[in-house]
Amino acid sequence: MCGIVGYVGNRPLIDTLINGLKRLEYRGYDSSGIAFIENNEIRVIKEVGKVATLLKTISQEIENTEFSATGIAHTRWATHGEPSHRNSHPHLDSKGNFAVVHNGIIENYAALKGQLMAKGCKFNSDTDTEVIAHLISELYEGDFLKAVAAALKQLNGTYGIAVISKFHPDMIIAARKGSPIVIGVGNEEMIVASDISALISYTRKVIYLDDNDIAVIKKNEVDIRNIDIIPVNRELAHVDWDAGAAEKGGFDHFMLKEIYEQDSAVVNTIRGRINIEEATAILSGLGFNPRELASISNIIIAACGTSMHAGLVGEYFFEDLAGIPTEVAQAAEFRYRNPIIRPDTLVIAVSQSGETADTLAAVRESKNKGALVAGICNVVGSTIARETGSGIYLHAGPEIGVASTKAFTCQVITLLMMAVKFGRSRRLARNRAIEVLEEIQNVPALIKETLKSAPEIERIAKKYSGIDNAFYIGRGYLYPVALEGALKLKEISYIHAEGYHAAELKHGPIALLEEKVPVIALANDIPGKDKILSNMQECKARKSPIIATATIGDLEVQNIANDVIYLPRCSEYVTPIVTVIALQLFSYYVARERGCSIDQPRNLAKSVTVE
Ligand code: M6R
Repeated sequence: MCGIVGYVGNRPLIDTLINGLKRLEYRGYDSSGIAFIENNEIRVIKEVGKVATLLKTISQEIENTEFSATGIAHTRWATHGEPSHRNSHPHLDSKGNFAVVHNGIIENYAALKGQLMAKGCKFNSDTDTEVIAHLISELYEGDFLKAVAAALKQLNGTYGIAVISKFHPDMIIAARKGSPIVIGVGNEEMIVASDISALISYTRKVIYLDDNDIAVIKKNEVDIRNIDIIPVNRELAHVDWDAGAAEKGGFDHFMLKEIYEQDSAVVNTIRGRINIEEATAILSGLGFNPRELASISNIIIAACGTSMHAGLVGEYFFEDLAGIPTEVAQAAEFRYRNPIIRPDTLVIAVSQSGETADTLAAVRESKNKGALVAGICNVVGSTIARETGSGIYLHAGPEIGVASTKAFTCQVITLLMMAVKFGRSRRLARNRAIEVLEEIQNVPALIKETLKSAPEIERIAKKYSGIDNAFYIGRGYLYPVALEGALKLKEISYIHAEGYHAAELKHGPIALLEEKVPVIALANDIPGKDKILSNMQECKARKSPIIATATIGDLEVQNIANDVIYLPRCSEYVTPIVTVIALQLFSYYVARERGCSIDQPRNLAKSVTVE
């Protein structure tokens, strides 16, 4: 989950690396650093904290930052070793001949470190990464590529790395196994990074490395080999995200911008995919033939965090509309519980980044067990998208805020389109399918309508911003949304929040209710509303203040709740979308009122590429 960027070309190096790091900062922000070649030596500058702090130090240490050189940079999310100056990347070997930045975990680093220390290597950090620099140095006999390949062969674990050497000032060597690396191909320049947001302002032509690839990157060429140094061919791909998509565009935070762009994100997700005439969804990326579609016996959705919550909504869709038994697996647990996979089981991996290590492991396990596997990813060319081979892109544009917002909305819509398509291959009646498809087409308008409630939500958020605990309750399609609402609040405002099925509250958690613990009740007018009104009464009787979401025009809810967020009327299938947007805004305004670091909450990183 660290961010890596490297540059070889004629642009001013510092600017290019720092811009790249800023775009990648959402991947980790415990510390950052750069290394570059200056007068035939490697110079390293690093700092604890965010990229802005690093930039300050660089400006103090370097008088003229306008020079060109070959360099690498890193923004860290700590795994081995506390966030500190000595543990910040880049890391050097003992002689200062090689500098390495790394994303991933080297599992056998302790054993390697012991061996290297016995040979006299002096270690300067507690990180697993440092062994890579020492190994390369020990194995170097004049051929940079050979030394890197030989070093990588000794590593167990995962890595995305970029390495420079003072003996080869015109090149960067990058390699991947389990952690993404993408190379941006420019005119007389190359930029290597752990994801495309660091390079889209320079080029849209990219090469994605596969596992075990090693790339020798010079300003005019990229030579890709496998770990045995045999040349391999990787295609040049074109990225259609525009650079502006990775900017805040006038909003105070990426999160707010991404909340507000959900209507257009959904437009992009559904574009060309709704066919009213045929009463189905066109999802050609799935690539399943009608026989395969009709024979799916059960579905397992594997995902983590917000994507898992979207999967829980999907579970209702597939069972309700398509009649296919569906379960949601927390991806980290999936392969350790010996899941029952039949030949006709479909495993759907849902992941915004397409890089979440646990979800990727679930994909691999499912393939090994012979399941049909499909991915729902946002990041084009991501590992999960490529390894599943079959799937649907969200086309939601880059999601930079660590708190996932528009990805959830687009994942839910995608799962709904899938359920309609699968349903049409079995029991879903044409008329009902058309109703759902028309409702999907109406979602962008519903989102715009929902966003009009922002000032009222802000008012309510300010009122409750001092709380220490909160419960979110929902039923049916709004149960997963209760889980998601609680996750949003805790991750960006650091308020302890729990999401519960409304009926479950009285089986224990109700003991915690009192006047300082508000309950956010999702009481929109969908099946189950009467029951949630009773659950709200139960909470009110324990003196909890109630904040409710309700359908415009509903007068019953306001008789029980202290504060009501009114949302547009819609079917239960799309209620999760309008409701989650209200909860995203609520969390955002609470966190802002508390002065929290909204786009980069403490201890978190955007994509979790370690298990
Ligand atoms: O990239 P993914 O969708 O696989 O990420 C999964 C989770 O790490 C992610 O949704 C996380 O829970 C978010 N920070 C939630 O806002």
